[in-house]
Amino acid sequence: METSIEIPNLEYNNDVANEMAPYYEKVKSVIPKIEWPVHAPYIKAINELKKQRNAVLLAHNYQTPEIYHCVADFVGDSLALSKEAARTEADIIIQCGVHFMAETSKILSPNKMVLVPDLDAGCSLAESITGDDVRKLKQKYPGVPVVTYVNTSADVKAESDICCTSGNALEIIESLGAKKVLFLPDKYLAQNIAKQTDVEIIWWEGSCIVHELFTPEELHQARENEEDLIIIAHPECPPNVVEAADFSGSTANMISYIKENQPKKVMMVTECSMSDNVSAVNPNVQFIRPCNLCPYMKKITLPKILDNLIYLNNEVKIDPLIAAKAFNAVDRMINLKI
Ligand code: 13P
Ligand code: SF4
Repeated sequence: METSIEIPNLEYNNDVANEMAPYYEKVKSVIPKIEWPVHAPYIKAINELKKQRNAVLLAHNYQTPEIYHCVADFVGDSLALSKEAARTEADIIIQCGVHFMAETSKILSPNKMVLVPDLDAGCSLAESITGDDVRKLKQKYPGVPVVTYVNTSADVKAESDICCTSGNALEIIESLGAKKVLFLPDKYLAQNIAKQTDVEIIWWEGSCIVHELFTPEELHQARENEEDLIIIAHPECPPNVVEAADFSGSTANMISYIKENQPKKVMMVTECSMSDNVSAVNPNVQFIRPCNLCPYMKKITLPKILDNLIYLNNEVKIDPLIAAKAFNAVDRMINLKI
């Protein structure tokens, strides 16, 4: 592995300002001018080092605009990121998202170096369940297939029959041909899916600390305040919130909805950086922004990404036996023709 990496100069001067101007053009509607001198030198250094290291930077839709629009090579929802991790030819994957996403990349690309800018970027869903919990559930419900949301640890995936994301959960559940499934660990996603299928769903008591905060009252209030408001909600929200919305889908499906329908006014009921990212490329859409931040996603910053590229720190490691078992569940999801 290349070792002669020089510590980049992070001074903001006229040359940097000129070179980075096309990047600012992309984010000027969502990043105040006064902040740009802080970001620009990091963006320049990260983009240069990525080439030297043959690294690819995969960023989730909840990353902040300077990451999402200025240093990411690939952006998407959990499903798209996992597919990209499986096919990338880069030597190093830098996962700008939370830890379970980096683990999923490592599971799918075990021979690549996978780095995460902050190892403490967790997830309330992933933390709600352990591999041991799944083993006990399997004893309690013998023969019932285990469908596991990707927002889980490798340990939990290793105990599962198949993974799913918010973008394919219904299709995955129905593909199994089972009357009953265990669906782990998001109770709200499970309840939202249960309304759309005859398959009986047994759920776990996990929830996302960002999406569980939304209430139907908040949505009704927003409609009263804003005429012709279109509301789109992530399916990790409680069912009464999803019912009060006009559309529900994974973060990628929410983005496609806006791109294709170009509503005059929209409220995205999800993590709030996403409205910034989407508004930057949809100038004719007005965004009404409820703001619930994911504290885990926000641990990822440009300086930490730069550290990954300089020091190759925060490598994600998984016990090979667990990784091999988890691979089956993730790979089965990715390769299912649905
Ligand atoms: P998706 O991007 O797959 O919709 O997931 C949302 C999420 O909560 C990721 O943490
Ligand atoms: Fe986890 Fe919710 Fe944050 Fe996504 S938004 S990483 S589900 S806590």
